[in-house]
Formats: sequence, C-alpha cells, structure tokens
Amino acid sequence: MPDRRESWTAPPPEPSREGVRGALGGSRLFEQPRQRAEVERFEAFIAGPGPVAVEIGFDFGHRLLDHAQRWPTWRWLGLEVRKARVDDLAEKAPPNLLPWRADARTVFAMLMPAGRVERIDVLFPTPWWDEGKRARRLLLTADSVADLGRSLRPGGVVHVATDVGPYFEHVQELFAGWQPADHPPSGEARSRRERVCARDELPVWRGTWRLRDP
Ligand SMILES: C[S@@+](CC[C@H](N)C(=O)[O-])C[C@H]1O[C@@H](n2cnc3c(N)ncnc32)[C@H](O)[C@@H]1O
Repeated sequence: MPDRRESWTAPPPEPSREGVRGALGGSRLFEQPRQRAEVERFEAFIAGPGPVAVEIGFDFGHRLLDHAQRWPTWRWLGLEVRKARVDDLAEKAPPNLLPWRADARTVFAMLMPAGRVERIDVLFPTPWWDEGKRARRLLLTADSVADLGRSLRPGGVVHVATDVGPYFEHVQELFAGWQPADHPPSGEARSRRERVCARDELPVWRGTWRLRDP
C-alpha cells in the first residue's frame, strides 16, 4: 500500500496574513473578556525571571511536563488547541509550566514579545492530509516561521521533528536562511508520536535552527 506520507505536498503560499490569524478566532478572540484574562496570565508568566521555552502542540504533554520538572529555572509555555489536553496538563503543571489553549500561530503573530524566547519545540506538527485544511491550518509557513524568529533571543533555537519526509523538506526550505544548530537537550520522556515512531520503526527527521548572526 502506498505510504501517503511520501506524497505530502506543501500548500501554496497564503495570499495574505488574514488567513492565518488562528483557528481559535485570532485577534478577535483575545479581545473577549475571558480570553483577555488568559492573555494577562500569559503576559505575567513570560514576564517572570528565567529563560522561556515553548512547546507547540504538546498533546499529552509527557515531554513538556518532564522538561518543566527537569529544568525548574526555565519557564515552559505549552500551546495546544485541544482543550481536554490543556486541562489535563494544567492539573499536573508545576508553577514554571503554563499550558495554554491557544493557536500558536496567533500567539506568535500577535502576542509574543520580540526577543523573549530561548527555545521553541515543534514535535510532529499536524501535516493535514486534507488539502483545504492544509492550506488553512498548516503550522509552519513562511509567515509563522518569521514570527517564531522575531520571538527568539540571540542564539535561541527552533527544533522541529516530523515523520513526514516531504514536510521536512518544506521545513528545510522555510529555515534555509537560518543557521543549523545543535538539538536542544531533552529528558527521558517521549511525546506520543515519538513513541509511536519508535514502536513502528518509522523514520523521523529532525532539525534545529537559529537565526543567522547579523
Ligand atoms: C500530530 S500531533 C503531535 C503531538 C505531539 N507533539 C507529539 O509529538 O506526539 C499535533 C498536535 O499539535 C496540535 N496543534 C495543531 N495545530 C496547532 C496550533 N496551530 N497551535 C497549537 N497546537 C496545534 C494538535 O492539537 C496536536 O495535539
């Protein structure tokens, strides 16, 4: 049976940024009173002391929780669109971990202060097999990568892993103007998809990049 992962193709570039304002409502969402409180909680969290790391799409959050416990002087922000996952992790989260139900594209486009983040992990971003969804929802695009770059401190890195080979080629193109970097440290805990790939012996592609020195 042909493996659909081998025939994945990147969507055409977005005509404007309006289409990538976020699956959960974008800027309008952050103006609602309840979300305003969430934004203030996020702002207070990242304004605290210590380096900030972000994991996008943490799902069960095994790895993110392990990192927050292992490196307590860092502040770990988890962005995930699935409410149940966010609620589950929030129950276990130590004070240096904030799981937030928000579209990462919107957070980085509109809320993340420039130069604040030390490390961004994107593990197995959803490839979106449906063409329409892929065009609307793909996490890593030229615009979103530019937003990630703006959020980084000098020397800060973005780490991406995927088991979809052509998606990794797309990611390599997006980071072509960046500089390859060492993978950031990780503990023993594996994400759900990392475990599946290890169990099924699927190939995994990983890359880490930092902005080029000026
Ligand atoms: C294929 S799963 C991988 C989950 C996990 N990182 C792993 O390695 O097992 C992708 C995850 O990203 C989340 N996600 C998709 N788009 C997102 C977005 N724009 N912002 C935040 N999370 C997103 C999904 O809900 C899902 O949990």
